[in-house]
Amino acid sequence: SGTAKKSAEGSLVVGGVDLRDLVAEHGSPAYVLDEDDFRSRARAFRTAFKDMDVYYAGKAFLCTTVVRWVMEEGLNLDICSGGELAVALRAGADPKRLGFHGNNKSVQELTRALEAGVGRIIVDSLFEIDRLIELAAERGLVAPVMVRVTAGVEAHTHEYIATAHEDQKFGFSITSGAAFEAVAKVNEAAELELLGLHSHIGSQIFDTSGFELAAKRLIALHARVSDELGVDMPELDLGGGFGIAYTTQDDPADPAQLATEMTKIVEHECRAYEVEAPRISIEPGRAIVGPAVCTVYSVGTVKEVALDAGASRTYVSVDGGMSDNIRTALYDADYSCTLANRYSGTTPTLARVVGKHCESGDIVVKDEFLPSDVGPGDLVAVPGTGAYCRSMASNYNHVPRPPVIAVKDGQTRVVVRRETEDDLLLLDMGAE
Ligand code: LLP
Repeated sequence: SGTAKKSAEGSLVVGGVDLRDLVAEHGSPAYVLDEDDFRSRARAFRTAFKDMDVYYAGKAFLCTTVVRWVMEEGLNLDICSGGELAVALRAGADPKRLGFHGNNKSVQELTRALEAGVGRIIVDSLFEIDRLIELAAERGLVAPVMVRVTAGVEAHTHEYIATAHEDQKFGFSITSGAAFEAVAKVNEAAELELLGLHSHIGSQIFDTSGFELAAKRLIALHARVSDELGVDMPELDLGGGFGIAYTTQDDPADPAQLATEMTKIVEHECRAYEVEAPRISIEPGRAIVGPAVCTVYSVGTVKEVALDAGASRTYVSVDGGMSDNIRTALYDADYSCTLANRYSGTTPTLARVVGKHCESGDIVVKDEFLPSDVGPGDLVAVPGTGAYCRSMASNYNHVPRPPVIAVKDGQTRVVVRRETEDDLLLLDMGAE
């Protein structure tokens, strides 16, 4: 993160807090959340997209403290479940600043969002549109709606996190005509207010041409709606997905550049179709919280494993693993790591950092050079774990989930406490 540096003894200091002290006080593993870094990334988007709306995507990581930071920094919040809505409301978020996503929101979730006065509900199926009409009618309310469309863009990212190609569950297809029909249906319903189109092409994307292509297709549809239905939709959301650097090979786009490119393309296309440009919004999650967190682990054991042809690999086992970071196992994600408690003059050796879970795919960092004397009691920090790590954490093997510790100006603050074995047993109705 932005404030990370080394102490005189070679330990890692984040937000003015030495990770040795943090672990001594709070234990390991722990997610270390750098408040200044989070806020400055949120602010960078806020500033760059000054005439637009920025929704922080809570699925990347959400807790009440983060909701408050997001609101304080002038961002809105994208939620995609009743649980995320509950966190946002509990944190005191203004419901008007919430956008509610999901391809299968339940009746209860929709009801709650409607009654709370959520600012926009992004609809994803004809069933959902009908459901919303009914729920709004019963309550005498008008639901503000955006229509999720599939832009038909092949985003260059992992298959599981690409979302704008045709053969997947999200959105209404533009090419098949389903998107236009959905928009027309929303427009006809007195219980729904048609805000605009929404597209999210995928996640961890570096090539901005995907956003441009999506914007072009969306504006073409936007113009058709203006032409054939006589409505100028006020908004257009281009989703999130902006990539971050997990290793030094990645080269992320900066918010100012993204804002310039998106505005340019939307204005250009709107001029071409002679329609008024809608207000743009975006939904970055990873790009705000990803780099603001590192996970600190303690090393438990080290093992040399012989490979073919006389080679060997050093397996460094830490006290967490796929339960606190599933991304390596699930998406073949690349992470880096560093020794976090001391200097070591020993020669770096190629190591694989693995967890404590009962399967061989439990890898945290596939390949990293660590000092050859790394051993039990050392601390290892993995940067870039803010997005989709705590939020996708599990209790696999009944391992309690680590806490999230915010650091700032040399102070620590527990924003999500460590799970205990009692927490794990709480749901077990047979436990005494
Ligand atoms: N908006 C919508 C509608 C989304 O579905 C997503 C992410 C975002 C915004 C935020 O995307 P971001 O800016 O964070 O890339 N678990 C996967 C990522 C799944 C993303 C799901 N949707 C991972 O760990 O890479």
